[in-house]
Amino acid sequence: MPADVLCTLELPEPFPSLISAAATLRSLGRLPGHDGLIEEIGEHVDVLCPQLRDQVDAAVLDAGLPRLRCVSVYAVGYDNVDVDAATARGIVVGNTPGVLTDATADCTVGLILAAARRLCEGDREVRAGRFTGWEPSYLLGLELRDALLGVVGFGRIGQAVARRALGFSMRVAYFDSTDPAVADDLRERVTRIPLDVLLREADVVTLHTPLTAETHHLIDERALRAMKSTAVLVNTSRGPVIDETALVRALRMHWIAAAGLDVYEHEPQLADGLAECANAVLSPHLGSATVTTRAAMAKLCALNALDALAAKIPRHCVNPQAWEGRSPPALIPA
Ligand code: DGY
Repeated sequence: MPADVLCTLELPEPFPSLISAAATLRSLGRLPGHDGLIEEIGEHVDVLCPQLRDQVDAAVLDAGLPRLRCVSVYAVGYDNVDVDAATARGIVVGNTPGVLTDATADCTVGLILAAARRLCEGDREVRAGRFTGWEPSYLLGLELRDALLGVVGFGRIGQAVARRALGFSMRVAYFDSTDPAVADDLRERVTRIPLDVLLREADVVTLHTPLTAETHHLIDERALRAMKSTAVLVNTSRGPVIDETALVRALRMHWIAAAGLDVYEHEPQLADGLAECANAVLSPHLGSATVTTRAAMAKLCALNALDALAAKIPRHCVNPQAWEGRSPPALIPA
């Protein structure tokens, strides 16, 4: 019986070539929705490669049993997969860490600069013919030199943003609820501080936490009110880390100066009023959107899937314990 891999939206090369060389690849070319995914997965899929917009819950996993052995996510974030349910069913979950760190950090810096220096407001002024010439107090923004960057979540991407910020002569502090391994080149140049101090003191707050029950609405009305009225808030992690309705109030009432958002609480919908906030820079989940990075993610996603088909724990696996009580047979040579 040939190994069967199902992906929802088509993934770029080298994913199709790598998978097709070893297994049968079925790409739906669309997001089937929850019930559609249950139908499509049937009982004949060995590896499912979902998008971050596919909800892979216990019902989807059950539909794939007994054959489904791996969910190989085309993303570093895997909050759309019920990992506990997967583990309980002996299904390993792979993701694509590392390869999108620089692209996401670059995008974050773009949002910091655009929001702090009001570039999108300025763009709209110019296009609307409202730019009538240089003026001393026109569209003044936040100077990054010596400003304090507060990084919430100091993993790979948070540290890559910190490194870039140091290049802009910013000071860098971070909060992390775990004890992250801080890279040697950063250790002496960044300070760990509690979240409430970070919110109170940072000129720019940038979010790099995974979405979990603990980080859902981490930035709520209380957090926003604690920030400086001159502060900029940037989010390239997951939308629900911010209470977006509270953020709209904060932007309207100028509790904070500006926001740069790449992700949204109810993506792709925006909270009421967000689109009208001139002090918000809004990008459409572009963090990893470079040709090079998406290809690297596609390769990792395929390699995770091929590992699982060869009965090896995927090289980037978030729940290797899932196979402790299950040794699926190799369907392809290792
Ligand atoms: C991820 O990988 O989690 C991003 O949000 C999409 O690249």
